[in-house]
Amino acid sequence: MDLIIKNGTIVTEKEMFKADIAVKDGKIALIGTDLSDIPAEKVVDATGKLVLPGAIDAHTHLSFPFGGTVSSDSYFAGTRAAACGGTTTVFDYTNQNFGEKLVDAVKRREAQAAEEGVAVDYGLHIGIKDPSGDLLDSMQEAIEYGVSSFKVFMVYDFGVSDGVFYKVLEKAKQYGALIAVHAENNEMVNLLVERYASEGKLSPWYHYASRPEFVEGEADRRAIAWAKSLNTALYIVHLADKEGVEAVTQAKDEGYEIYAETCPQYLHFTDEVFKREDGRNFVCSPPMKGQESQDALWEAIKRGDIDTIATDHCPFQQSEKDWGKDDFRKIPNGCAGIENMYPYMLSKANDGVITFQKAVELCSFNPARIFGCEDKGSLSVGKDADIVIYDPEKNFTVHNSNMHSDSDHTIWEGLELHGYPIQTYSRGRLVYDNGEFVGEKGWGKMVKCAARAH
Ligand code: URP
Ligand code: ZN
Ligand code: ZN
Repeated sequence: MDLIIKNGTIVTEKEMFKADIAVKDGKIALIGTDLSDIPAEKVVDATGKLVLPGAIDAHTHLSFPFGGTVSSDSYFAGTRAAACGGTTTVFDYTNQNFGEKLVDAVKRREAQAAEEGVAVDYGLHIGIKDPSGDLLDSMQEAIEYGVSSFKVFMVYDFGVSDGVFYKVLEKAKQYGALIAVHAENNEMVNLLVERYASEGKLSPWYHYASRPEFVEGEADRRAIAWAKSLNTALYIVHLADKEGVEAVTQAKDEGYEIYAETCPQYLHFTDEVFKREDGRNFVCSPPMKGQESQDALWEAIKRGDIDTIATDHCPFQQSEKDWGKDDFRKIPNGCAGIENMYPYMLSKANDGVITFQKAVELCSFNPARIFGCEDKGSLSVGKDADIVIYDPEKNFTVHNSNMHSDSDHTIWEGLELHGYPIQTYSRGRLVYDNGEFVGEKGWGKMVKCAARAH
Protein backbone atom coordinates (compact mmCIF):
# COMPACT_ATOMS: atom_id res chain seq x y z
CA MET A 1 0.00 0.00 0.00
CA ASP A 2 1.04 3.62 -0.43
CA LEU A 3 -0.62 4.88 2.70
CA ILE A 4 -2.46 3.52 5.73
CA ILE A 5 -4.34 5.81 8.08
CA LYS A 6 -4.75 3.87 11.33
CA ASN A 7 -6.90 4.06 14.45
CA GLY A 8 -9.12 6.93 13.31
CA THR A 9 -12.90 7.23 13.39
CA ILE A 10 -14.19 7.10 9.84
CA VAL A 11 -17.17 9.29 9.07
CA THR A 12 -19.44 8.58 6.14
CA GLU A 13 -22.75 10.18 5.25
CA LYS A 14 -24.45 7.44 7.27
CA GLU A 15 -22.21 6.28 10.09
CA MET A 16 -19.10 6.68 12.22
CA PHE A 17 -16.89 3.74 13.06
CA LYS A 18 -13.33 3.02 14.11
CA ALA A 19 -11.28 1.55 11.25
CA ASP A 20 -8.06 1.75 9.28
CA ILE A 21 -8.05 2.90 5.70
CA ALA A 22 -5.50 1.85 3.06
CA VAL A 23 -4.68 3.74 -0.12
CA LYS A 24 -3.08 2.44 -3.31
CA ASP A 25 -2.54 4.36 -6.57
CA GLY A 26 -4.72 7.25 -5.43
CA LYS A 27 -7.71 5.08 -4.60
CA ILE A 28 -9.13 3.72 -1.38
CA ALA A 29 -8.02 0.10 -1.51
CA LEU A 30 -9.19 -1.31 1.82
CA ILE A 31 -11.12 -0.32 4.93
CA GLY A 32 -10.84 -2.65 7.91
CA THR A 33 -10.65 -2.86 11.66
CA ASP A 34 -6.96 -3.76 11.75
CA LEU A 35 -4.75 -3.33 8.70
CA SER A 36 -1.51 -3.20 10.70
CA ASP A 37 -0.08 -6.35 9.09
CA ILE A 38 -0.25 -4.86 5.63
CA PRO A 39 3.02 -3.28 4.50
CA ALA A 40 2.72 0.38 3.56
CA GLU A 41 5.12 3.11 2.47
CA LYS A 42 3.59 5.53 4.92
CA VAL A 43 1.52 4.96 8.06
CA VAL A 44 -0.36 7.78 9.77
CA ASP A 45 -1.74 7.34 13.27
CA ALA A 46 -5.14 9.05 13.55
CA THR A 47 -5.92 8.06 17.14
CA GLY A 48 -8.51 10.47 18.54
CA LYS A 49 -9.11 11.99 15.11
CA LEU A 50 -11.93 11.81 12.60
CA VAL A 51 -11.23 10.60 9.08
CA LEU A 52 -13.57 12.19 6.55
CA PRO A 53 -14.05 12.35 2.79
CA GLY A 54 -12.65 15.55 1.30
CA ALA A 55 -15.30 18.19 0.80
CA ILE A 56 -16.67 19.04 -2.63
CA ASP A 57 -17.38 22.73 -3.03
CA ALA A 58 -20.02 22.74 -5.76
CA HIS A 59 -19.96 26.50 -6.37
CA THR A 60 -16.83 28.59 -6.90
CA HIS A 61 -15.77 31.47 -9.13
CA LEU A 62 -12.00 31.37 -9.64
CA SER A 63 -10.40 33.96 -11.93
CA PHE A 64 -13.96 35.01 -12.66
CA PRO A 65 -14.52 38.12 -14.80
CA PHE A 66 -17.30 39.91 -12.93
CA GLY A 67 -18.35 43.29 -11.55
CA GLY A 68 -15.86 45.21 -13.71
CA THR A 69 -12.87 43.15 -12.58
CA VAL A 70 -11.77 39.54 -12.09
CA SER A 71 -12.18 37.63 -8.82
CA SER A 72 -8.89 37.61 -6.98
CA ASP A 73 -8.16 33.89 -6.61
CA SER A 74 -6.60 32.14 -9.56
CA TYR A 75 -7.20 28.43 -10.02
CA PHE A 76 -4.01 27.85 -8.08
CA ALA A 77 -4.64 30.25 -5.19
CA GLY A 78 -8.27 29.21 -4.80
CA THR A 79 -7.57 25.50 -4.83
CA ARG A 80 -4.57 25.92 -2.52
CA ALA A 81 -6.97 27.52 -0.05
CA ALA A 82 -9.55 24.81 -0.70
CA ALA A 83 -7.03 22.07 0.17
CA CYS A 84 -6.11 23.84 3.40
CA GLY A 85 -9.78 23.82 4.42
CA GLY A 86 -10.30 20.13 3.62
CA THR A 87 -11.90 20.67 0.21
CA THR A 88 -10.49 18.30 -2.39
CA THR A 89 -12.79 19.05 -5.32
CA VAL A 90 -14.28 22.32 -6.50
CA PHE A 91 -16.93 22.88 -9.11
CA ASP A 92 -16.10 26.14 -10.80
CA TYR A 93 -18.16 28.18 -13.24
CA THR A 94 -17.31 28.83 -16.82
CA ASN A 95 -19.61 31.38 -18.37
CA GLN A 96 -20.35 30.99 -22.06
CA ASN A 97 -19.24 33.89 -24.25
CA PHE A 98 -21.73 35.22 -26.77
CA GLY A 99 -21.66 33.02 -29.85
CA GLU A 100 -19.62 30.34 -28.08
CA LYS A 101 -20.53 26.65 -28.15
CA LEU A 102 -21.02 25.35 -24.62
CA VAL A 103 -18.28 22.74 -24.96
CA ASP A 104 -15.87 25.48 -26.01
CA ALA A 105 -16.61 27.37 -22.79
CA VAL A 106 -15.43 24.22 -21.00
CA LYS A 107 -12.27 23.79 -23.05
CA ARG A 108 -11.38 27.46 -22.57
CA ARG A 109 -11.58 27.19 -18.77
CA GLU A 110 -9.90 23.79 -18.74
CA ALA A 111 -6.91 25.38 -20.46
CA GLN A 112 -6.96 28.28 -18.00
CA ALA A 113 -7.12 25.94 -14.98
CA ALA A 114 -4.12 24.01 -16.32
CA GLU A 115 -2.19 27.18 -17.04
CA GLU A 116 -2.87 28.65 -13.61
CA GLY A 117 -1.92 25.38 -11.91
CA VAL A 118 -5.11 24.08 -10.31
CA ALA A 119 -4.04 22.24 -7.15
CA VAL A 120 -7.01 19.97 -6.40
CA ASP A 121 -9.49 18.25 -8.68
CA TYR A 122 -12.20 20.34 -10.24
CA GLY A 123 -15.36 20.04 -12.26
CA LEU A 124 -17.12 22.73 -14.25
CA HIS A 125 -20.64 24.07 -14.55
CA ILE A 126 -21.47 26.16 -17.60
CA GLY A 127 -23.29 29.48 -17.21
CA ILE A 128 -25.55 29.87 -20.24
CA LYS A 129 -25.69 33.38 -21.69
CA ASP A 130 -26.44 32.93 -25.38
CA PRO A 131 -29.26 30.65 -26.57
CA SER A 132 -29.15 31.87 -30.17
CA GLY A 133 -29.12 29.53 -33.17
CA ASP A 134 -28.40 25.97 -32.12
CA LEU A 135 -26.12 26.90 -29.22
CA LEU A 136 -28.42 25.25 -26.67
CA ASP A 137 -28.10 21.98 -28.56
CA SER A 138 -24.35 22.17 -28.03
CA MET A 139 -25.27 21.05 -24.50
CA GLN A 140 -25.05 17.50 -25.81
CA GLU A 141 -21.43 17.88 -26.85
CA ALA A 142 -20.55 19.39 -23.47
CA ILE A 143 -22.17 16.44 -21.71
CA GLU A 144 -20.21 13.99 -23.87
CA TYR A 145 -17.08 15.91 -22.87
CA GLY A 146 -17.93 15.39 -19.18
CA VAL A 147 -19.79 18.51 -18.09
CA SER A 148 -23.43 17.81 -17.36
CA SER A 149 -24.50 20.81 -15.27
CA PHE A 150 -25.50 24.21 -16.58
CA LYS A 151 -26.62 27.37 -14.90
CA VAL A 152 -28.98 30.17 -15.73
CA PHE A 153 -28.85 33.55 -14.03
CA MET A 154 -32.21 35.28 -13.61
CA VAL A 155 -30.27 38.45 -12.71
CA TYR A 156 -27.27 40.50 -13.91
CA ASP A 157 -26.92 42.04 -17.35
CA PHE A 158 -26.10 38.61 -18.79
CA GLY A 159 -29.09 36.89 -17.15
CA VAL A 160 -31.69 35.12 -19.27
CA SER A 161 -35.43 35.65 -19.71
CA ASP A 162 -38.02 33.22 -18.36
CA GLY A 163 -38.56 31.99 -21.93
CA VAL A 164 -34.88 31.13 -22.39
CA PHE A 165 -34.77 29.55 -18.94
CA TYR A 166 -37.72 27.36 -19.91
CA LYS A 167 -36.04 26.30 -23.17
CA VAL A 168 -32.86 25.47 -21.24
CA LEU A 169 -34.87 23.24 -18.91
CA GLU A 170 -36.43 21.49 -21.90
CA LYS A 171 -33.02 20.86 -23.44
CA ALA A 172 -31.67 19.62 -20.12
CA LYS A 173 -34.47 17.11 -19.89
CA GLN A 174 -33.79 15.99 -23.47
CA TYR A 175 -30.03 15.56 -23.00
CA GLY A 176 -29.77 14.48 -19.35
CA ALA A 177 -28.32 17.68 -17.89
CA LEU A 178 -28.94 19.31 -14.53
CA ILE A 179 -29.84 23.01 -14.51
CA ALA A 180 -28.82 25.26 -11.67
CA VAL A 181 -30.37 28.66 -11.17
CA HIS A 182 -29.45 31.94 -9.50
CA ALA A 183 -32.94 33.04 -8.54
CA GLU A 184 -33.72 36.70 -7.92
CA ASN A 185 -36.29 38.89 -9.66
CA ASN A 186 -34.25 41.07 -12.01
CA GLU A 187 -36.98 43.62 -12.70
CA MET A 188 -37.53 44.20 -8.99
CA VAL A 189 -33.80 44.51 -8.32
CA ASN A 190 -33.42 47.08 -11.09
CA LEU A 191 -36.46 49.05 -9.94
CA LEU A 192 -35.34 49.15 -6.31
CA VAL A 193 -31.71 49.95 -7.14
CA GLU A 194 -32.81 52.91 -9.29
CA ARG A 195 -35.28 54.10 -6.68
CA TYR A 196 -32.77 54.04 -3.81
CA ALA A 197 -30.10 55.65 -5.96
CA SER A 198 -32.44 58.47 -6.98
CA GLU A 199 -33.10 59.08 -3.28
CA GLY A 200 -29.35 59.19 -2.59
CA LYS A 201 -29.53 55.97 -0.56
CA LEU A 202 -26.26 54.41 -1.56
CA SER A 203 -24.75 52.74 1.52
CA PRO A 204 -24.18 48.94 1.49
CA TRP A 205 -27.46 48.48 3.37
CA TYR A 206 -29.26 49.38 0.13
CA HIS A 207 -27.64 46.43 -1.60
CA TYR A 208 -29.71 44.31 0.76
CA ALA A 209 -32.74 46.63 0.59
CA SER A 210 -32.86 46.33 -3.20
CA ARG A 211 -32.72 42.52 -3.05
CA PRO A 212 -34.82 41.71 0.03
CA GLU A 213 -36.56 38.44 0.92
CA PHE A 214 -39.47 38.66 -1.54
CA VAL A 215 -37.19 39.45 -4.47
CA GLU A 216 -35.47 36.10 -4.03
CA GLY A 217 -38.56 34.20 -2.83
CA GLU A 218 -40.64 35.11 -5.88
CA ALA A 219 -37.88 34.01 -8.23
CA ASP A 220 -37.38 30.74 -6.34
CA ARG A 221 -41.09 30.01 -6.73
CA ARG A 222 -41.07 30.93 -10.41
CA ALA A 223 -38.00 28.81 -11.16
CA ILE A 224 -39.50 25.83 -9.33
CA ALA A 225 -42.78 26.30 -11.21
CA TRP A 226 -41.02 25.96 -14.60
CA ALA A 227 -39.15 22.84 -13.48
CA LYS A 228 -42.31 21.30 -12.05
CA SER A 229 -44.27 22.01 -15.22
CA LEU A 230 -41.69 20.02 -17.19
CA ASN A 231 -41.16 17.47 -14.44
CA THR A 232 -37.44 18.01 -14.68
CA ALA A 233 -34.73 18.44 -12.06
CA LEU A 234 -33.59 21.84 -10.83
CA TYR A 235 -30.78 22.88 -8.47
CA ILE A 236 -31.18 26.21 -6.72
CA VAL A 237 -27.80 27.74 -5.91
CA HIS A 238 -27.08 29.85 -2.85
CA LEU A 239 -30.58 29.72 -1.40
CA ALA A 240 -30.84 32.41 1.24
CA ASP A 241 -34.49 33.12 2.01
CA LYS A 242 -37.30 31.55 3.98
CA GLU A 243 -39.90 31.70 1.20
CA GLY A 244 -37.51 29.86 -1.09
CA VAL A 245 -36.95 27.22 1.58
CA GLU A 246 -40.71 26.75 1.85
CA ALA A 247 -41.04 26.40 -1.93
CA VAL A 248 -38.25 23.80 -2.00
CA THR A 249 -39.81 21.84 0.86
CA GLN A 250 -43.21 21.87 -0.82
CA ALA A 251 -41.79 20.73 -4.17
CA LYS A 252 -39.79 17.93 -2.52
CA ASP A 253 -42.87 16.84 -0.58
CA GLU A 254 -44.79 16.69 -3.86
CA GLY A 255 -42.09 14.37 -5.23
CA TYR A 256 -40.25 16.75 -7.57
CA GLU A 257 -36.50 16.55 -8.00
CA ILE A 258 -35.69 20.01 -6.69
CA TYR A 259 -32.31 20.46 -5.02
CA ALA A 260 -31.21 23.31 -2.80
CA GLU A 261 -27.74 24.58 -2.01
CA THR A 262 -26.98 27.14 0.66
CA CYS A 263 -23.72 28.68 1.83
CA PRO A 264 -22.07 29.24 5.22
CA GLN A 265 -22.44 33.02 4.85
CA TYR A 266 -26.24 32.66 4.92
CA LEU A 267 -26.06 30.31 7.90
CA HIS A 268 -23.83 32.62 9.90
CA PHE A 269 -24.51 36.25 9.01
CA THR A 270 -27.73 38.19 8.66
CA ASP A 271 -28.65 41.45 6.90
CA GLU A 272 -27.21 43.22 9.98
CA VAL A 273 -23.74 42.98 8.40
CA PHE A 274 -24.72 45.58 5.82
CA LYS A 275 -24.98 48.15 8.61
CA ARG A 276 -21.34 47.60 9.59
CA GLU A 277 -18.63 50.07 8.75
CA ASP A 278 -17.09 47.35 6.53
CA GLY A 279 -20.54 46.34 5.18
CA ARG A 280 -19.29 46.53 1.59
CA ASN A 281 -17.06 43.53 2.21
CA PHE A 282 -20.15 41.37 2.77
CA VAL A 283 -21.86 42.39 -0.45
CA CYS A 284 -22.79 39.33 -2.42
CA SER A 285 -25.90 38.30 -4.29
CA PRO A 286 -28.27 37.19 -3.04
CA PRO A 287 -27.52 39.16 0.12
CA MET A 288 -27.73 37.71 3.60
CA LYS A 289 -31.30 38.01 4.83
CA GLY A 290 -33.01 38.44 8.21
CA GLN A 291 -32.87 36.07 11.18
CA GLU A 292 -36.08 34.29 10.13
CA SER A 293 -34.51 33.23 6.86
CA GLN A 294 -31.35 32.06 8.60
CA ASP A 295 -33.43 30.01 11.06
CA ALA A 296 -35.42 28.53 8.16
CA LEU A 297 -32.19 27.45 6.45
CA TRP A 298 -30.93 25.65 9.55
CA GLU A 299 -34.30 23.96 10.05
CA ALA A 300 -34.28 22.86 6.41
CA ILE A 301 -30.80 21.40 6.85
CA LYS A 302 -32.00 19.38 9.82
CA ARG A 303 -35.14 18.21 7.93
CA GLY A 304 -33.10 17.19 4.89
CA ASP A 305 -34.50 19.86 2.56
CA ILE A 306 -31.13 21.50 1.91
CA ASP A 307 -29.02 19.14 -0.16
CA THR A 308 -25.63 20.79 -0.35
CA ILE A 309 -23.45 23.42 1.24
CA ALA A 310 -21.16 25.31 -1.12
CA THR A 311 -19.28 28.57 -0.83
CA ASP A 312 -19.96 30.71 -3.93
CA HIS A 313 -16.32 31.70 -3.36
CA CYS A 314 -15.83 34.89 -5.38
CA PRO A 315 -13.40 37.20 -3.56
CA PHE A 316 -12.46 40.71 -4.56
CA GLN A 317 -9.62 42.69 -3.08
CA GLN A 318 -10.28 45.40 -0.53
CA SER A 319 -9.42 48.16 -3.02
CA GLU A 320 -12.10 46.75 -5.35
CA LYS A 321 -14.71 46.47 -2.62
CA ASP A 322 -13.81 50.09 -1.78
CA TRP A 323 -15.00 51.24 -5.20
CA GLY A 324 -18.46 51.10 -3.69
CA LYS A 325 -17.72 52.61 -0.28
CA ASP A 326 -20.16 55.42 -1.02
CA ASP A 327 -22.22 53.73 -3.74
CA PHE A 328 -23.30 50.11 -3.30
CA ARG A 329 -23.84 49.78 -7.06
CA LYS A 330 -20.07 49.85 -7.60
CA ILE A 331 -19.21 47.05 -5.16
CA PRO A 332 -18.22 43.84 -6.97
CA ASN A 333 -20.53 41.12 -5.65
CA GLY A 334 -18.91 38.18 -3.92
CA CYS A 335 -16.92 37.03 -0.88
CA ALA A 336 -14.20 34.54 0.03
CA GLY A 337 -15.11 31.28 1.73
CA ILE A 338 -13.46 28.34 -0.02
CA GLU A 339 -11.22 27.53 2.98
CA ASN A 340 -13.96 28.00 5.55
CA MET A 341 -16.85 25.80 4.45
CA TYR A 342 -15.83 22.40 5.79
CA PRO A 343 -14.26 23.74 9.01
CA TYR A 344 -17.41 25.80 9.64
CA MET A 345 -19.85 22.93 9.09
CA LEU A 346 -17.66 20.48 11.02
CA SER A 347 -17.39 22.93 13.89
CA LYS A 348 -21.19 23.09 13.93
CA ALA A 349 -21.18 19.29 14.09
CA ASN A 350 -18.62 19.36 16.90
CA ASP A 351 -20.92 21.78 18.76
CA GLY A 352 -23.85 19.35 18.31
CA VAL A 353 -25.89 21.56 15.96
CA ILE A 354 -25.81 18.83 13.29
CA THR A 355 -24.15 15.42 13.18
CA PHE A 356 -20.77 14.80 11.57
CA GLN A 357 -22.55 12.46 9.14
CA LYS A 358 -24.83 15.33 8.12
CA ALA A 359 -21.83 17.60 7.51
CA VAL A 360 -20.31 14.89 5.28
CA GLU A 361 -23.60 14.36 3.47
CA LEU A 362 -24.02 18.09 2.73
CA CYS A 363 -20.41 18.93 1.91
CA SER A 364 -19.24 15.80 0.09
CA PHE A 365 -21.66 12.92 -0.51
CA ASN A 366 -24.57 14.90 -1.95
CA PRO A 367 -22.61 17.15 -4.30
CA ALA A 368 -20.91 14.05 -5.76
CA ARG A 369 -24.24 12.25 -6.14
CA ILE A 370 -26.17 15.20 -7.56
CA PHE A 371 -23.50 16.18 -10.10
CA GLY A 372 -22.69 12.63 -11.22
CA CYS A 373 -19.15 12.63 -9.84
CA GLU A 374 -18.75 8.90 -9.38
CA ASP A 375 -15.21 8.70 -7.99
CA LYS A 376 -15.75 11.09 -5.13
CA GLY A 377 -17.95 11.93 -2.15
CA SER A 378 -17.47 9.01 0.18
CA LEU A 379 -14.89 6.95 2.01
CA SER A 380 -15.46 3.59 0.38
CA VAL A 381 -13.32 1.11 -1.50
CA GLY A 382 -12.68 2.13 -5.12
CA LYS A 383 -13.31 5.85 -4.61
CA ASP A 384 -10.57 8.45 -4.97
CA ALA A 385 -8.53 8.74 -1.79
CA ASP A 386 -9.62 12.30 -1.05
CA ILE A 387 -9.32 12.22 2.72
CA VAL A 388 -9.32 14.72 5.57
CA ILE A 389 -7.98 14.02 9.04
CA TYR A 390 -9.82 16.23 11.50
CA ASP A 391 -8.84 17.00 15.06
CA PRO A 392 -12.01 17.65 17.08
CA GLU A 393 -9.88 19.10 19.92
CA LYS A 394 -8.00 21.67 17.86
CA ASN A 395 -9.47 25.13 18.18
CA PHE A 396 -8.80 27.60 15.42
CA THR A 397 -9.48 31.29 14.92
CA VAL A 398 -9.77 32.49 11.33
CA HIS A 399 -7.56 35.42 10.38
CA ASN A 400 -6.79 36.48 6.87
CA SER A 401 -3.14 35.87 7.78
CA ASN A 402 -3.77 32.14 8.38
CA MET A 403 -5.83 31.65 5.20
CA HIS A 404 -4.27 30.49 1.93
CA SER A 405 -6.25 32.46 -0.62
CA ASP A 406 -4.85 35.52 -2.42
CA SER A 407 -7.72 37.60 -1.01
CA ASP A 408 -6.47 40.41 1.24
CA HIS A 409 -9.41 40.21 3.66
CA THR A 410 -12.04 37.76 4.77
CA ILE A 411 -15.59 38.13 6.02
CA TRP A 412 -14.72 35.26 8.39
CA GLU A 413 -12.08 37.27 10.29
CA GLY A 414 -12.16 36.35 14.00
CA LEU A 415 -14.42 33.32 13.60
CA GLU A 416 -13.70 30.77 16.32
CA LEU A 417 -13.94 27.17 15.25
CA HIS A 418 -14.07 24.10 17.45
CA GLY A 419 -12.07 21.38 15.76
CA TYR A 420 -10.06 21.79 12.55
CA PRO A 421 -8.66 19.73 9.67
CA ILE A 422 -5.02 18.80 10.27
CA GLN A 423 -4.29 16.92 7.05
CA THR A 424 -5.83 16.76 3.58
CA TYR A 425 -5.04 14.11 0.97
CA SER A 426 -5.96 14.51 -2.69
CA ARG A 427 -5.97 11.13 -4.47
CA GLY A 428 -3.70 9.85 -1.72
CA ARG A 429 -1.21 12.72 -1.92
CA LEU A 430 -0.75 14.92 1.15
CA VAL A 431 -1.68 18.47 0.12
CA TYR A 432 -2.24 20.13 3.49
CA ASP A 433 -0.38 19.48 6.71
CA ASN A 434 -1.07 21.32 9.96
CA GLY A 435 -1.46 24.85 8.70
CA GLU A 436 0.64 24.51 5.58
CA PHE A 437 -0.11 23.87 1.94
CA VAL A 438 2.19 21.04 0.86
CA GLY A 439 0.50 20.25 -2.44
CA GLU A 440 1.63 20.90 -5.93
CA LYS A 441 0.75 23.46 -8.55
CA GLY A 442 -0.97 21.63 -11.41
CA TRP A 443 -1.79 18.49 -9.38
CA GLY A 444 -5.54 18.92 -9.92
CA LYS A 445 -7.36 17.09 -12.69
CA MET A 446 -10.64 17.88 -14.32
CA VAL A 447 -13.41 15.60 -13.07
CA LYS A 448 -15.78 14.36 -15.74
CA CYS A 449 -19.38 14.05 -14.64
CA ALA A 450 -21.97 11.60 -15.83
CA ALA A 451 -25.19 12.68 -17.53
CA ARG A 452 -28.50 12.02 -15.81
CA ALA A 453 -30.90 9.30 -16.85
CA HIS A 454 -33.30 10.74 -19.45
O1 URP B 1 -22.25 37.73 -5.26
C1 URP B 1 -22.02 36.69 -5.86
N1 URP B 1 -22.68 35.62 -5.52
N2 URP B 1 -21.08 36.66 -6.83
C2 URP B 1 -20.78 35.58 -7.67
C3 URP B 1 -21.73 35.41 -8.81
C4 URP B 1 -22.99 34.72 -8.37
O2 URP B 1 -24.06 35.30 -8.45
O3 URP B 1 -22.96 33.56 -7.99
ZN1 ZN C 1 -25.25 33.56 -8.19
ZN1 ZN D 1 -21.95 32.08 -7.68
